[in-house]
Amino acid sequence: MSATKGKIKVLFVCTGNSCRSQMAEAWARRLKADQIEAYSAGIRPSGLDPRAVAVMAEVGINISAQRSKHIDELKDMRFDYVITVCDQARQSCPIWPGAGKVLHVGFDDPPALASSAANTDEAMQHYRRVRDQIKAFVEGMPENLSTVVGRATELEAMHKDSTETIRQAYAEIARSEKSCCGPCGCTAATALGYDQADLKDIPDGTDMGLGCGNPVALASLKEGEVVLDLGCGPGLDVFVAARKVGPKGKAIGVDMTAEMLAKARAGIEQFRQRTGLSNVEFRLGQIEYLPVADASVDVVLSNCVINLSADKPQVWREIARVLKPGGRVAVSDLVLLRPLPDKVKGSIEALVGCVAGAILVEQLGPMVEEAGLADVSVEPRPDYIQRMADWSDQLYRRIREALPEGEGLGDYVTSAYVTARKPEAVLSERVKELIALGASVTANCHPCLRYHLDKARQLGIDRSSILQAIEVGKMVRRGAAGQMDGLIKEIVHYDGGVYGKQGR
Ligand SMILES: C[S@@+](CC[C@H](N)C(=O)[O-])C[C@H]1O[C@@H](n2cnc3c(N)ncnc32)[C@H](O)[C@@H]1O
Repeated sequence: MSATKGKIKVLFVCTGNSCRSQMAEAWARRLKADQIEAYSAGIRPSGLDPRAVAVMAEVGINISAQRSKHIDELKDMRFDYVITVCDQARQSCPIWPGAGKVLHVGFDDPPALASSAANTDEAMQHYRRVRDQIKAFVEGMPENLSTVVGRATELEAMHKDSTETIRQAYAEIARSEKSCCGPCGCTAATALGYDQADLKDIPDGTDMGLGCGNPVALASLKEGEVVLDLGCGPGLDVFVAARKVGPKGKAIGVDMTAEMLAKARAGIEQFRQRTGLSNVEFRLGQIEYLPVADASVDVVLSNCVINLSADKPQVWREIARVLKPGGRVAVSDLVLLRPLPDKVKGSIEALVGCVAGAILVEQLGPMVEEAGLADVSVEPRPDYIQRMADWSDQLYRRIREALPEGEGLGDYVTSAYVTARKPEAVLSERVKELIALGASVTANCHPCLRYHLDKARQLGIDRSSILQAIEVGKMVRRGAAGQMDGLIKEIVHYDGGVYGKQGR
C-alpha cells in the first residue's frame, strides 16, 4: 500500500467521469476521509451530469465544484486501487503503471436508464438508486476491496456469460418468427387457460407459446392499475393485462432481448387500432435491475422467466422495490421437485429451455420472503408439464432421453404459481433516519453520525427519540469507550435547536 499519511489512494474510473465515478469519489471523501484519498477520472470525459449533482445535493453533498477529467491528467499518480465502476471503463481501462490493484465493481448507468424513463421523477429514481448503491459499497471500503470485490467480479463474470447465452437464444427465437413453440414449451395461450375474449385483440404474432401458465388470470387485475411484466418477450401478457386495466391503467413490459422487444413494440399500433388503448409500454432492461421507479407498480407479473435469471434473489428484491406498498405479485414459473441429473443440469439447451436454471420448489417461498414480501404462496401446477409431455415437445423429448430409465420430466419439474404482497406498513422516513442514527453509533462512524443528525433535524425528529436511537446504538456497539463518546456527550447535553457544536 503506497500510503500517504496512512491513507490509501483510490481512483474511481468510468467512461465519462460525469456521474458514477464522481458519486463514488464524493462518497469516499465524505465517509472515508480519514482512511481514503479519493479521485475520479474518465476514459472520455463528458462533463459533470447535473442530475448526479442534484441527487448528491439531496443527501447533503455538493459536487458541483467537481470536474470531469481524463485519466491522463492523473497518469503520473500512484494508486493503491483503481476501481472501474462501469463496464465500458472496465474494458477500456488502460494498464495503470504502479496501481496496486485494478478492480471492477459495476453499477447501473443512470443516464442510460433515465433515457427510457417515463418521466423526470422516474429518471431521478435511477440516479438515487445508483447513488445509494455506490454509498453502500464505499461504506464497506477498504475491507471489501480484498474480498467482496474479487468475489463479486467472479460471480458477475459467471452471471454475464449465462445471461448472454440466454439473450442470444431468445434473439434467435424472436427472429425465427415462429408463432408457437418456444424452448420453454409448446403451449399456446388457449391451452394455458387464457380466455378467448382476452386474446381476440392481441397483436398478431404475440402468442409464441413461451409461457408456462396464466399470470394475468392469477392477478385479478382491476381498472386503473399499473402492471409490470418481467421478461415480457413478444408481449402477450402485457397486451392482455392492458385490456384489463383499461385507459386509466398502464401495462409495462421489460425484456433484455432487443429482438423480442422490437416484436412487442411492433404490436403496439395494431393493439391501439383494435382496442383504442394507448396504455402499453415496453422497456429494454434486465429484471435484476429494473428500469422502473421505486414503489410505482400495483402488480408485477412474470411468465416463465425468473428461472432464467442467474441472480434470482436480486430479481425478487427488485420486485419488492418497484411495488407500491400493498402491491401484489402474480408469477408463473418452472421449479424443480428434486435435483436434476448432472447431464440435464449442465445442458445449455435445458438452461435456455427454463429447466436447468430452475430452483427447488421449497427454496422459492423463503427467497420471496427474504426480499421483504408477505403472504407468499407457491402452488405447484403439474398440468403444464403434463401438457408438454402430451404434445411430444422436442425439448421435452431430448431432456427425457437424458433422464434415468422410466422417469419423465414431470418427476423433476413443475410449473408453479407464486403470489405475494408488499406489506403496507413501510417504515417512515423518520424511523429510517433514527435507525441510521443508531447504526452510525454502532459503526463508530463519526461522519455518518453528523450526517444523520442533520437529516434528523431536517425531518424535525424530537430530541428524546434521537437520544433513544443513540442509546440503542451504544448498547449494540461493542467496547466501552468509543471514539465518539465526546460527540455523543455534546448531543446529550445540547439545550437548543441545534445538535452539537457548529450549529449541527
Ligand atoms: C420463456 S420467454 C417468456 C416470454 C413471455 N413472458 C411469455 O410468456 O411469452 C423468456 C423471456 O425472458 C427474457 N429474459 C430472460 N432473462 C432475462 C433477464 N435476466 N432480464 C430480462 N429479460 C430476460 C428473454 O429475453 C425472453 O424474452
